[in-house]
Amino acid sequence: MHIREYTDDDLDAVFRLRRLAFNAAERPERLVKPGTHGLVAELDGRVAGVLSIGAFAQFYGGAAIPMGGIGGVAVDGATRGRGVANALLDAALSTMREHGQPLSVLYATVPTLYRGRGWERAGVFEWVELPMDRLLSVPRPAELIPSRPACESDLTALHDCYLEVARTIDGMADRRPPRIELGKVLELDLVSVLPGPNGLRGYLTAKRESGGDMGRLKVFDLVGVDVEAQLNLLASLASWTGTLEAIDLRITDPATLNLLGGTPIRYSVWTSAWMLRVVDLPAAVAARGWPRPANAVVDLEIIDEHAPWHAGNQRIVAEDGVVRVEPGGTGAVRLHARALGPWFSGAQNTHALRRAGLLEGDPADAVVLDQLVGASGVPRLADFF
Ligand SMILES: CC(C)(COP(=O)(O)OP(=O)(O)OC[C@H]1O[C@@H](n2cnc3c(N)ncnc32)[C@H](O)[C@@H]1OP(=O)(O)O)[C@@H](O)C(=O)NCCC(=O)NCCS
Repeated sequence: MHIREYTDDDLDAVFRLRRLAFNAAERPERLVKPGTHGLVAELDGRVAGVLSIGAFAQFYGGAAIPMGGIGGVAVDGATRGRGVANALLDAALSTMREHGQPLSVLYATVPTLYRGRGWERAGVFEWVELPMDRLLSVPRPAELIPSRPACESDLTALHDCYLEVARTIDGMADRRPPRIELGKVLELDLVSVLPGPNGLRGYLTAKRESGGDMGRLKVFDLVGVDVEAQLNLLASLASWTGTLEAIDLRITDPATLNLLGGTPIRYSVWTSAWMLRVVDLPAAVAARGWPRPANAVVDLEIIDEHAPWHAGNQRIVAEDGVVRVEPGGTGAVRLHARALGPWFSGAQNTHALRRAGLLEGDPADAVVLDQLVGASGVPRLADFF
């Protein structure tokens, strides 16, 4: 098997694979686009598998860390089960490391495949359905902020407004060009902005889609840097009463959910879990923001046969507000490759990782890992009353 970077000459072969795998209807004009590259696997001189790697970055602790977003993994139906996907993922790990991407994220239709290569569930992407009566029960804003349609000259301020909120939410993408084209947002049906004293206080982007009698309104971003901005944007959605029975809202800022006071215990949510893989632990640790770390040391043994560059004994050292990874140490806490993503994102604490068979060693040593990321996982209750 031969694995290489794809070029536009591979477009036909790749489209054939993706049409079979995903029922993709439209042949794209180009394969290699700014901010995206990819790999193909050749078997007996024919393209037998493909994946793409997008150049994203995710915020953790307020710092944007370059992240390879894997997508479009497809293997020829006639050559499945022969290790093509595994080989592509192994090559993708080295490629991302070479491209300075210490993290990798993907949305998996086949999680088993990715678990085998060290990706694990580490966060969610969610949409909620908001029936109009719930929107109408949102408190009225105390301050009326006049909104207006966005234009080309707002694009930078719009991105800055997004970043002001996104950098405070672990896992959010920084939407950097060229992978994300900022101007594309203006192609949406509704882009409304709330001007503020310095740039924008908030904005809303939405698209009309078919479905039901009058279609649907899909709100992609509802972003307000303060509570009044959010309440103004939610109030603007109430204007759809009469036309629509509900609005679909993508959760960009979890704070928005807190404002939907009329939301009862049961409501419709679509959740897609994303999987995270730490490709290069020392580089990922150096790039992350850490919430006021106290001086501490934790000795790790990393079990990771697919990323040998960071496998073995590694010591995490937090000193004078800086956290770094050094080779060596006693290996007191053993972390399997799949533990790295959920630990790094804060999605699971070390107790959960231990019970999942992904971490071993003295709990007193391991707790330093929880203290560093400042997260104990998604709060939960498993009792209903
Ligand atoms: C999923 C797909 C990419 C796998 O390709 P492949 O070359 O057959 O995979 P490999 O032979 O390298 O197998 C890799 C591992 O994944 C497992 N696997 C593969 N397909 C699987 C499936 N559908 N369900 C569960 N496990 C699967 C294999 O058992 C193997 O496990 P192992 O390493 O423990 O032996 C291929 O079946 C495909 O193109 N499917 C349609 C598109 C798709 O679903 N892509 C994934 C998008 S996220």
